[in-house]
Amino acid sequence: MFEVKQYSGNRTKDYELVLKQLKALSEDETDHIAILANASALLNQFLDEINWVGFYLWKNDELILGPFQGLPACVHIAYGKGVCGTAIKERQTQLVPNVNEFPGHIACDAASKSEIVVPIFIDDEPYGVLDIDSPIFDRFDELDQKYLEQFVQVLKNYLT
Ligand code: SME
Repeated sequence: MFEVKQYSGNRTKDYELVLKQLKALSEDETDHIAILANASALLNQFLDEINWVGFYLWKNDELILGPFQGLPACVHIAYGKGVCGTAIKERQTQLVPNVNEFPGHIACDAASKSEIVVPIFIDDEPYGVLDIDSPIFDRFDELDQKYLEQFVQVLKNYLT
């Protein structure tokens, strides 16, 4: 089973290790909720300075809260609303250095200051989003975006 390994402090190397850990956790599993729950736990123990990490899943034309780590959060997010709904609408990662400056940002946890949301599309259809919040401004950069997008690419292999 999963072994917690010491991360090195080299972000590139550590993200590569997390991708391997995601594969090890997900292969041979078919239950989506189980896979996403472990994926959120993996990111939660890897990423520092975050206060929420998890998934919203696309159901009946809206985003519904899925497996996550953090405080209880809002359950329904409409298409195009908030950072999550915008990621689905624009089909692009939303890297938000200051959530106060994002029009329509939905504050689930008042501590959140910056956020990254990676949309998940499977066969061109919305599947959901990976959403990560931080209690500090400007927490996420292009390296986080690159690897979190890869994280979603790996995850998608197990969600079909
Ligand atoms: N801030 C998100 C809502 C979800 S919480 O961050 C967990 C948004 O604006 O879509």
